[in-house]
Amino acid sequence: MFRLQPPLPDDYTTATTDELVRRVITARSRLGKRLVILGHHYQREEVIQFADKRGDSFSLARFAADQHDADFVVFCGVHFMAESADILTGPHQQVILPDLNAGCSMADMADLDDVEQIWDELAEVTDIEAVVPITYVNSSAALKAFVGRRSGAVCTSSNARAVLNWALGLDGPGIEDGSACAPEPWVDSASAGGRGNKVLFFPDQHLGRNTGFQLGYGASDMRVIDPRQRLGGLQDAEVKEATFLLWKGHCSVHQRFRTEHVEAFRSEHPDGIVIVHPECSCEVVEIADQVGSTDYIIGAVSAAAPGSTIAVGTEIHLVERLAREHPDRTVLSLDPLVCPCSTMFRIDLPHLAWVLDGLVAGEVRNRVVVDEATAADARVALERMLAIA
Ligand code: 13P
Ligand code: SF4
Repeated sequence: MFRLQPPLPDDYTTATTDELVRRVITARSRLGKRLVILGHHYQREEVIQFADKRGDSFSLARFAADQHDADFVVFCGVHFMAESADILTGPHQQVILPDLNAGCSMADMADLDDVEQIWDELAEVTDIEAVVPITYVNSSAALKAFVGRRSGAVCTSSNARAVLNWALGLDGPGIEDGSACAPEPWVDSASAGGRGNKVLFFPDQHLGRNTGFQLGYGASDMRVIDPRQRLGGLQDAEVKEATFLLWKGHCSVHQRFRTEHVEAFRSEHPDGIVIVHPECSCEVVEIADQVGSTDYIIGAVSAAAPGSTIAVGTEIHLVERLAREHPDRTVLSLDPLVCPCSTMFRIDLPHLAWVLDGLVAGEVRNRVVVDEATAADARVALERMLAIA
């Protein structure tokens, strides 16, 4: 998705770190309670140190929805997160993304035209009323609105299981974060009856597949939808039989983690613990010790015994922070080669200082606005998620 971030004035690109820190501190104190800064766990230290609230995408969405008193919500994260915050905050509040080019390559893998086309094609071969569209929060507001209009819901990596339970009418206990590829005995997918009997899950095939496995479904219940092919490249019968239609999207950061990394770590640290994000492939998730959202990963590292060695399969800024915050544990990246999220990385101290200085001067820079018609439908899908989880 193309967005244009104008270059910063020289005053910001040439300023020293100390000077930029001083400007951010001054702006924060001038703006007081009118300003809230949110920071996703993948943000750089120079930025996240100023966050009033750090969190995963779910907790930040929740927190944003509760900030009734703040006039300005500066979202240090990526574009879809700022859009969600704009949808969930009131009309008197303005959401700001310090660098408009901070997108999410996974979110860009599904666009409204493609999803609508696949939806129409599915309707030709299956009972579309029984298909529940579920969009991962890593998606545009337009897709959240699509889902809201069709009685579906948004999910995040921390509540995907609850949302899919809701969609398919499952009421079993599920399993806590852990190995995700073993079917659970309590599921009888043939008799499951909920909002529908099939989900179209986008844009991340991995989160959809891993969660489906957690719920007890098998590979034969799932098919990948390739948006570049008619009917996603599937036969009519495959569409009819599948419970999970998984959009062919992925996270370029998390797909780097491979089973070889787990094996290499285990051969060096036989008692080590492997914790991965559910955007990793099913093969990696299956052999990991634990799997969960970024908030879950933080909790799992804190809960590990002092002295343990932990390999974490997620974005490197979070892994390095966990290593620093737990000096009595060895916390390593599962992939020894650094894997940052290049779009999260776009938010830096100069951009933060630039938007805050603008607010002090009465100028709102880089506001993210979702038009009201889209926001109204997307809000339905987001609020449904907040109610389910
Ligand atoms: P969380 O929901 O775990 O914060 O993940 C968001 C994300 O973009 C992971 O790549
Ligand atoms: Fe998107 Fe992956 Fe970056 Fe998360 S880590 S924001 S899914 S590109």
